[in-house]
Amino acid sequence: MLLRPIRFFGGKGGVGKTTLAAGYALHRARRGERTLVVSTDPAHSLGDVFGVPLGERPLAVVPGLWAAEVSGEAQAARRVAEIVADAERTLPREVLPAVRRHLARAVESPGTVESALLDAVTDLVEQVGRDWDRLVVDSAPTGHMLRLLSLPALLTPWIEGLARQRESVRGVDRLAAGLVGRADEEPDPLLERLRARRERMAGLVERLRADAEVHLVLVPERLPLAETVRAAEQLTGGGLRLGTVVVNRVVPAGETGLLARRREQQEEVLARVAERFGREGVARVPLLPGALTSTAELTEVADLVSDL
Ligand SMILES: Nc1ncnc2c1ncn2[C@@H]1O[C@H](COP(=O)(O)OP(=O)(O)O)[C@@H](O)[C@H]1O
Ligand SMILES: [Mg+2]
Repeated sequence: MLLRPIRFFGGKGGVGKTTLAAGYALHRARRGERTLVVSTDPAHSLGDVFGVPLGERPLAVVPGLWAAEVSGEAQAARRVAEIVADAERTLPREVLPAVRRHLARAVESPGTVESALLDAVTDLVEQVGRDWDRLVVDSAPTGHMLRLLSLPALLTPWIEGLARQRESVRGVDRLAAGLVGRADEEPDPLLERLRARRERMAGLVERLRADAEVHLVLVPERLPLAETVRAAEQLTGGGLRLGTVVVNRVVPAGETGLLARRREQQEEVLARVAERFGREGVARVPLLPGALTSTAELTEVADLVSDL
């Protein structure tokens, strides 16, 4: 397997995550890696970059490169539909409307949507090394991405607590049953589900720590730098590895007039980025003239991020 085959592109909205993730994925595909680029940003725009509508199922966009857009909402709705179907088979008809109402509310709650999205990402991560050589994730804006990446670590102790509680309840049940002469050894589906979920989350955390890198993207302005520093601290605090930081839309040296003044303002931020992220490495991508939607332009971006 490749070294660090899983790459996340994170940063504020509009900094260039989608463009750079698509360019990087194209670069890896051109190097002969079976590459999947997937967007987890609810404001999907990956399909626009390739000029095709995308869905959850990976679609071949150029040779060696597949693309998909996953949505927590769609995942959550599908999962709830399964639960409703189960409930219809097993529960008394009178309680079904109440169950449906409860589930409809649950599907809209941010926790459900995020954990469903995490499930979809886990599926894809598990495919790396088998179906894909490389997975590139065009992440949602910073806060969203951080929550998603820290969710497995947060969920694991919580699930463990639930499982422990469940086990001790079962222990008391068994003891009571034993006293009246009937040892209850039936399998517990809830406990099984909790255990399976705990294993899955622990596996994801381990996999991300070993095989993933997060590329934070920023434009050289003062405000995003502070946000990038905060994001970096949170990610590394969660055991994730920071990859090369990408500064996008850097005005090329040697411009005149308005652009020259912009460049001067950018210099100060660029110096601070170099100082803060020297260890991780910093890549610069210039401000490009086009709309960045043609294959030729994407190839140009691919060449610019080939060192990540
Ligand atoms: N280096 C660049 N030069 C010029 N335009 C860029 C550059 N990088 C991205 N863009 C443009 O900026 C806009 C936002 O980029 P996008 O990749 O969609 O950002 P994000 O995914 O972070 O919201 C898009 O129109 C994109 O074509
Ligand atoms: Mg985007």
